Amino acid sequence: MDQLRVLITRDQIAARIADMGREITRDSPGEPVVFVGVLKGAAIFLSDLIRAVDLDATFEFIGVSSYGNRPATDQKLAWDSTGEVRVTKDVDQSLRGKNVILVEDILDTGLTLTFLKRLLLGHQPKSLRVATLLDKPSRRKLAIDADYVGFTIPDEFVVGYGLDYAERYRNLADICVLTEAEG
Ligand code: IMP
Ligand code: MG
Repeated sequence: MDQLRVLITRDQIAARIADMGREITRDSPGEPVVFVGVLKGAAIFLSDLIRAVDLDATFEFIGVSSYGNRPATDQKLAWDSTGEVRVTKDVDQSLRGKNVILVEDILDTGLTLTFLKRLLLGHQPKSLRVATLLDKPSRRKLAIDADYVGFTIPDEFVVGYGLDYAERYRNLADICVLTEAEG
């Protein structure tokens, strides 16, 4: 039996995203911005974030998966991603010369975002920034920081608001810590 404990409420999420939207609006030049969300975890964050900016904005999704992908049931135990990352769904438009903001649900070891940043830089965008809803800096294996961070959290496995455990719990409105009950 899994147990859920609320870590960040829906109201806290909404307030923080409103702030992030203002920050991004303020920092952006008077030019179009392309938001690129990482499937599937960032889909819900992206949909709220783009409505919190006052910009000429479009959005795309990119899909990635780690090599040596762990069985879904092992995901929490082995959420230590060690392998390489590959693209399962690419963006639909050229990002060349565009102002791009990569949108991720959580920055953990840094493997995914390091790979994606490198990949998107290959498109030769005019600018590339990273927005992540959550950051677990204590777990970092590669030196990478986001330009915009919603919440810095401790080293706990969280679900909800897009984040999953074996594809479940993405639809929770609050962000919760997932623990397995004893016995
Ligand atoms: P990184 O490549 O280790 O930075 O991992 C980022 C990815 O790992 C995220 O996009 C999530 O899919 C997954 N992940 C890391 N921590 C958690 C967590 O606490 N809950 C759910 N997924 C997580
Ligand atoms: Mg993810």
